Amino acid sequence: MGRRLIAANWKMHGNREFTRRLLADLTAELTRPGACLDNGVEVAIMPPSLLLADCRRGLEKSSLALHGLTLFLGVQNLARWSEGAYTGEISAAMAADQGCRFAIIGHSERRQLMGEDDQAISEKVAQCLASGLKPILCVGETLQEREDGQAFSRVTAQLQQALTQVNPDQWQQVVIAYEPVWAIGTGVSASAEDAQAVHRHIRVTLAALGAPAQEMAVIYGGSVKPETAKQLFAQPDIDGGLIGGASLDANSFASICRAC
Ligand code: PGA
Repeated sequence: MGRRLIAANWKMHGNREFTRRLLADLTAELTRPGACLDNGVEVAIMPPSLLLADCRRGLEKSSLALHGLTLFLGVQNLARWSEGAYTGEISAAMAADQGCRFAIIGHSERRQLMGEDDQAISEKVAQCLASGLKPILCVGETLQEREDGQAFSRVTAQLQQALTQVNPDQWQQVVIAYEPVWAIGTGVSASAEDAQAVHRHIRVTLAALGAPAQEMAVIYGGSVKPETAKQLFAQPDIDGGLIGGASLDANSFASICRAC
């Protein structure tokens, strides 16, 4: 996998009409003359799962392929189990069957609001890899942890616990998203320097776990906007972004893609 990735996390937003319009607007933005999307950048859309089929049809009908562009699909979460009596859950195999390439795992909203723990997250990473999906594993400290000087140690612990079930030949499928909890949805992004420092630390930690850290994508998430994207992505260890709010606007999301 290339190292650069921009992923749109729609969270619990949108409906079928929104999906149709957003994909049409995004296609127009990404294919207009001079749009200059670097073809080394992968772009993925993670809508709510109920909108995956609409998204897939919208992308198939779009003129993106004619311009040599592929937008990948992904889910925002999936089950820690492969199949069975788990009412309301969606398996990694089902996401793959819908054409998904990526899955967000361990987003802080799921850790905080849905009580996801490191054991569940590590099982979900394993489910992704077993079904050929690329997990986008989210890690990041709270404001309190940052103020207490524990940002690095928090991220280290999250990586160590979530990646216990990765086989040596699977590392390159794994994407890490550094998402400081205090920057998500707040309008306050981490500074490029602070984010770079944690990204460097993540690569060092991955290497210590035996991963080919230099070949893996480590992306940043938390209030990325078109105005801040360029500086963040210019850092040597920031390979792209996980974009929430700004991914709901075609113009903003396209300029963030171009900034990568
Ligand atoms: P935000 O969300 O860009 O709205 O801060 C990012 C995320 O939660 O993945």
